Amino acid sequence: MAEQKTINEIKKRRTFAIISHPDAGKTTLTEKFLLYGGAINTAGSVKGKANSKYAVSDWMEIEKERGISVTSSVLQFNYNDFCINILDTPGHQDFSEDTYRTLMAADSAVMVIDASKGVEAQTIKLFKVCVMRHIPIFTFINKMDREARDSFELLDDIETVLGIRTCPVNWPIGSGKRFKGIYDRRAKTVRSFESVSTGGAKKAAETDYAIDDPALKELATEELYEQLVEEIELLDGASDPLDLEKVRKGELSPVFFGSALTTFGVETFLQYFLEMTTSPLPRLSNEGEIDPIDNDFSAFIFKIQANMNKAHRDRIAFMRICSGKFDAEKEVYHVQSGRKLRLSQPQQIMAQDRQVISEAYAGDVIGVFDPGMFSIGDTITLPGNKFEYEGIPTFAPEHFARVVQLNSMKRKQFVKGITQIAQEGAIQIFQEFTAGMSEIIVGVVGVLQFDVLKYRLENEYGCEIRLESLPYGFIRWVGDPSTDVTKLKRMNNVKAVKDMKGNPLLLFVNDWMIRMVLEDNEGLELLEFKKN
Ligand code: G4P
Repeated sequence: MAEQKTINEIKKRRTFAIISHPDAGKTTLTEKFLLYGGAINTAGSVKGKANSKYAVSDWMEIEKERGISVTSSVLQFNYNDFCINILDTPGHQDFSEDTYRTLMAADSAVMVIDASKGVEAQTIKLFKVCVMRHIPIFTFINKMDREARDSFELLDDIETVLGIRTCPVNWPIGSGKRFKGIYDRRAKTVRSFESVSTGGAKKAAETDYAIDDPALKELATEELYEQLVEEIELLDGASDPLDLEKVRKGELSPVFFGSALTTFGVETFLQYFLEMTTSPLPRLSNEGEIDPIDNDFSAFIFKIQANMNKAHRDRIAFMRICSGKFDAEKEVYHVQSGRKLRLSQPQQIMAQDRQVISEAYAGDVIGVFDPGMFSIGDTITLPGNKFEYEGIPTFAPEHFARVVQLNSMKRKQFVKGITQIAQEGAIQIFQEFTAGMSEIIVGVVGVLQFDVLKYRLENEYGCEIRLESLPYGFIRWVGDPSTDVTKLKRMNNVKAVKDMKGNPLLLFVNDWMIRMVLEDNEGLELLEFKKN
């Protein structure tokens, strides 16, 4: 059992990821959270766009050139008695596997949806990973200050496209120019929308009205008021009750409406969210569940970022602390290598600064210098504890290319480079069954990773390559690795490859062909995620 101070610190922790389709308002919402926490003074400093200040995570030239953030960053701030860790995921469509892995380190997710668009492609992908983990998902329907789709239609969209039940915690009155405010279903009051502030540090002006207050009728107009009363009745009769047990299992998503840009509905959302989520929960290891409070320090590595400082060629491993207290003075144990070591330069990212830290607690994410022994999914404990956390799944890449090395004299560097980059998890590499290392197929989750690969092989390993795009877009792991894939039927236009561990995989051009192969090969199991 941990010391009382450690217990208190762990109980204060809330660690969540924000997911959305690009442009739904994730960055704006994050900024407003930080504003409430007092971690930043001006909005607009979380993500550096092309000409503005670069955010902490913009570490590579390629990111700077394009003014986008390729990798995820972690932000910590305090709000009331909570210590909040936000795991930001890149909003650009060329996101990478890191985005998925970041979700492995979160205890819950906030899904931001643009009220004029509803559920969009990228949200679906990220949502699937949250569902796989059964973590609570909270929905923030953003941009109510613009013309929005019908609120019932938006709920329906979430329920049918994503397959999760919804429960609106609050409800909007109008949208766009006619946006009047939000009705809180629990408090049974309306907060009027008065704010005109769009950026900066200003918090929205807030006035609450009881639902039967005549002033509300006047404010909302007769028509919108009647509509609100009708809609509330409908919701009270037909929507799912707010069952926190279901929320915690990821079966029911509490829904909030608001406008991040005008800071409207953001603090209410934050307050409800903190009330409904839990402090870090036990995690599964090969020795059963590890309780965050009853156990000493333990963590798992979910991301490795190379060359954050080009002069030193360093690698930073990001780990999520799952139990106990991290003490920089103490030796830790790297379970996979069986070695004891002291973690060097542990750091935490506080809004815009990287800070060297001496302690951290379950729920926190810290970055440490990687002496070259860490891999994604590894477990770190205190000496004496040898359990391993469940591995991080490998996610299906969606873009494939054949790598052609241009200078055959540099064969060794090429193999070393591409293998190292694959180990970091930036790309996945495959081989055809017949070819050796001369024929490498690269698979990535976001196409930007191809540029990252080319750039890094040239700049760090001195190897020039050409990438020949392949037509495949779908990959499936063969459930039983001993299957002889050369004997499968209906394999025209399907490519059989193996990963670096020799596991067989199939590459498909479209979804339909996956169904055909499954139909014609009885007993064949094809997997979308590979449990490591
Ligand atoms: P992302 O991280 O999900 O990609 O989205 P981001 O917050 O960058 O927001 C995308 C655009 O939507 C931004 O406008 C932002 O100002 C706007 N936005 C975010 N929330 C709201 C909202 O509640 N209401 C309205 N009306 N707009 C919102 P931009 O013009 O693309 O960028 P910028 O020049 O304002 O930074």
